[in-house]
Amino acid sequence: TAERQRSAQELIRPQLPSELTKRDGCPFDPASGLTELSGQGRIHRIEHNGETVWLVTGHEEARAVLAEPRMSSDRINSPRARKLISPELHAELFPPQRRAGSFIFMDAPEHTRFRRLLTGQFTVRRMRDLTPRVHEIVTAQLDAMIEKGPPADLVHDFALPVPSLVICELLGVDYGDRDEFQRRTAKLLSLTTTIEEQIKVNTDLGLFMRSLVRDKQKKPGDDLLSGLVRDTDLNTDELTGIANLLLIAGHETTANMLALGTFALLEHPDEFAKLREHPELAENAVEELLRYLSIISMGVSRHAKEDVTIGGATIRAGETVVVSVPAVNRDESQYDNPHELHVDRPRGHHVAFGHGIHQCLGQQLARVEMTVAFTELLRRLPTLKLAVPADEVPLRTDMSIYGVHELPVTW
Ligand code: HEM
Repeated sequence: TAERQRSAQELIRPQLPSELTKRDGCPFDPASGLTELSGQGRIHRIEHNGETVWLVTGHEEARAVLAEPRMSSDRINSPRARKLISPELHAELFPPQRRAGSFIFMDAPEHTRFRRLLTGQFTVRRMRDLTPRVHEIVTAQLDAMIEKGPPADLVHDFALPVPSLVICELLGVDYGDRDEFQRRTAKLLSLTTTIEEQIKVNTDLGLFMRSLVRDKQKKPGDDLLSGLVRDTDLNTDELTGIANLLLIAGHETTANMLALGTFALLEHPDEFAKLREHPELAENAVEELLRYLSIISMGVSRHAKEDVTIGGATIRAGETVVVSVPAVNRDESQYDNPHELHVDRPRGHHVAFGHGIHQCLGQQLARVEMTVAFTELLRRLPTLKLAVPADEVPLRTDMSIYGVHELPVTW
């Protein structure tokens, strides 16, 4: 039926007019319509396709929304999601086993329990132990790419495998299985995947993850998933949901930051040179790239559980709010010349990892991966350049996480 052919992403991500979401000029800049709108205010009421969406473009207002306990993250059960499809299809798409452990969609206090258990596993020691592994993984990928010789697709040969290998290591997934989960997560993150297709992918990914969890329950190792099995009373559905979430959240995001970040540096040769000559700037450069690129292009959404007033606007119970990460990260009242990339820009607050109770759980790991990856890439390949004209690089405007599909490079 028609409702099964709807976009699955549309169900959990409110619709906005394409002039506010489709990047249309420089590949690193937000849509021109969005930048124009940001100049007119900080929170905007938008009517589109019969829906009301509040779009937040101001930095302070964004933090207020994301820190607000009356704003819900339960996108699965939001009034709009419930209205868009029949209860039967809703139950089929989001069965209880699928919801278990998906704490990115939970509110406090349910969320709190999971977040605490996970924080207990993202220990300083585990992150410290992973750092030399990240170095090894980055070095091995670069060795192989250099050995093969130019040209190369930086996405295929570097940006995607590095975070995939790291997340496999963290979760204790056999890297031989990566093709399987990469193909499936890509499907989940595509804006054109239908509800029908998503139901199938969910089932497949669920089976894959469940068998992984069962393996860890039988024979726990040193990985994070085994740690959860050993140290907590989480059940198999919850463990499966957590493993799914970490796998999906953990590799496409970092992969796109690495590829789009490299593209941005290549298109800003002075910044590329500055970073190459001053590798001690790497951590700072990573923060600036996160801010400047805002790969969570569609923003982060919530719905009001009660009437809430933010930035002078009253959001009524049930209404949807989208925090526009690209707009907020370029708020003129927060940053000088926000549309410029400066790897040595003084560090400030950005919302690339969100804010409040759902602020990215993997941010320390992502920072380590990006710092090591950019440093080593520029050190090993100081003459790196694009192998095609910049306007031929295929952009991920069809995906919920922005970036490039391929990045042909030479050196
Ligand atoms: C949450 C961005 C890497 C795991 C988030 C959120 C953002 C984000 C914006 C907040 C979502 C919301 O408020 O609704 C990013 C970016 C990354 C990155 C830009 C890379 C550059 C990672 C990695 C992992 C990870 C490497 C796992 C190892 C998670 C999880 C959540 C989350 C589990 C949900 C946290 C919660 O609901 O409490 N991420 N992320 N992320 N991220 Fe990341």
